[in-house]
Amino acid sequence: MLLLAHISDLHLDGTDRATERATRVMRYLTGLPTPVDALLVTGDIADNGDLSEYDEAAALLAAPFPVLACPGNHDIRPAYRKGLLGEPADGGPINRVHHVGGTAILMCDSSIPGRHDGLLDNETLHWISTTLGEHHDAPALLAFHHPPIALHHPLPDSLQLGEPQELHDLLSRHSNVVGVLVGHAHTAAASTFAGLPLLVAPAVTWTLRMPWEGEDAADRSQPPGVAFHVLDDERRLTTHYRVVL
Ligand SMILES: [Fe+2]
Ligand SMILES: [Fe+2]
Repeated sequence: MLLLAHISDLHLDGTDRATERATRVMRYLTGLPTPVDALLVTGDIADNGDLSEYDEAAALLAAPFPVLACPGNHDIRPAYRKGLLGEPADGGPINRVHHVGGTAILMCDSSIPGRHDGLLDNETLHWISTTLGEHHDAPALLAFHHPPIALHHPLPDSLQLGEPQELHDLLSRHSNVVGVLVGHAHTAAASTFAGLPLLVAPAVTWTLRMPWEGEDAADRSQPPGVAFHVLDDERRLTTHYRVVL
């Protein structure tokens, strides 16, 4: 059994509010009686993409379990590489595979520099396909920032993952993928994509107010949220959502 925590959209911007919320979530996760096997962070870690925001993120996200991250549309690749990964600033999409408890977790870069909508570009799609092929015997999870489907709110739906059919076709060729994990929408949501569970992490910053809940999209009164994904020996993925008061 694999136990993963999943957070998203910290939007660290140097304000006390952002720092306090991220600190609260990390304190909750590191204080659990049973530690998670890993923590996934699906993008919008920084709000402006400044190096100082990644320096703060690196300190905040230090934990006794592996922390696996990918960029979102608010992240800036060179500063992300330098501040969060301690790597040279130059390079293309930031794609990483991690092996946790026999599961391959692919953290993929769906950001497009200078834009807020998303895309898994050809380099990333090729990397996903090759990596899944190399681990075809192991269960695999795919995580990135932009949902590949509409979530029934005009804000995220205008900024979702472009060309989702490419990903759909890729997933139909790799039967070891057990789920797709995303962020960006700032709402704890569950749906399906390519016949797989599609699970959206709640945000650490504000929560999306759905059209039937009111007009202003950003509800800053809601507490930060966390998803827990359990992958069992039958390769079934079960998700529990929590808020962190
Ligand atoms: Fe966000
Ligand atoms: Fe985003």
